[in-house]
Amino acid sequence: MREDEAIELLVNNAGVGPRGPLLDDDPDYLDAMIDLNVVAVNRLAVAAAQTFAERGRGAIINIASVVALIPERFNGTYSASKAFVLNLTQAIDAEVSGKGVQVQAVLPGLTRTEIFERAGVSSARFDPSMVMDVTDMVDAALAGFDRGEAITIPSLPDAGDWQAFFRARIVLAPNLSRDRPAERYGVQRAEAV
Ligand SMILES: NC(=O)c1ccc[n+]([C@@H]2O[C@H](COP(=O)([O-])OP(=O)(O)OC[C@H]3O[C@@H](n4cnc5c(N)ncnc54)[C@H](OP(=O)(O)O)[C@@H]3O)[C@@H](O)[C@H]2O)c1
Repeated sequence: MREDEAIELLVNNAGVGPRGPLLDDDPDYLDAMIDLNVVAVNRLAVAAAQTFAERGRGAIINIASVVALIPERFNGTYSASKAFVLNLTQAIDAEVSGKGVQVQAVLPGLTRTEIFERAGVSSARFDPSMVMDVTDMVDAALAGFDRGEAITIPSLPDAGDWQAFFRARIVLAPNLSRDRPAERYGVQRAEAV
């Protein structure tokens, strides 16, 4: 990628899913999941971001998942790996802003692919109304890309719901790092003693 000028797009898609709840899973399998879903994604995204920013052109599409937003409902290692992808994408997007590089995280919900069978899980247990056809998911993701979306959630009917979630996070920002603990913790500050 760094040497080949013809490469202008990175799609970080490869990933494996969980075989069930975290308490029942094999730690070695979860380590391998992190290697693919996190370490490899990071290595490729960083290489692409650095290379594309220097060239002033290029695009990175990272496939995350909606479970990044609902960690209580899914295997923690998998949802954490997808939260990593989401955070990484948002941070890269902020860093390459104005440098001619487009960055997108796609957050699919359940999608009809081989991921479940590969993990030894039957997809038949899912409510069909929650499972999207993979072609529809990819078409929506690409439409979001064409619109310049940094975050695309293919199934979300109202994009304003994501914006509201995003804004709620920003509201926290001024108070996330301060020189004193919040009053509710009743801490007698060291410098006041
Ligand atoms: N399906 C869903 O419900 C869903 C929902 C949200 C997010 N996602 C995400 O979507 C992405 C694609 O998954 P999918 O649903 O399309 O699953 P999939 O049908 O099982 O495809 C997985 C892809 O990852 C590649 N892969 C697996 N292990 C690999 C390894 N060790 N090294 C290199 N490539 C490897 C596979 O390549 P080969 O075919 O060559 O093995 C395949 O292209 C993943 O990141 C997944 O987490 C899926």
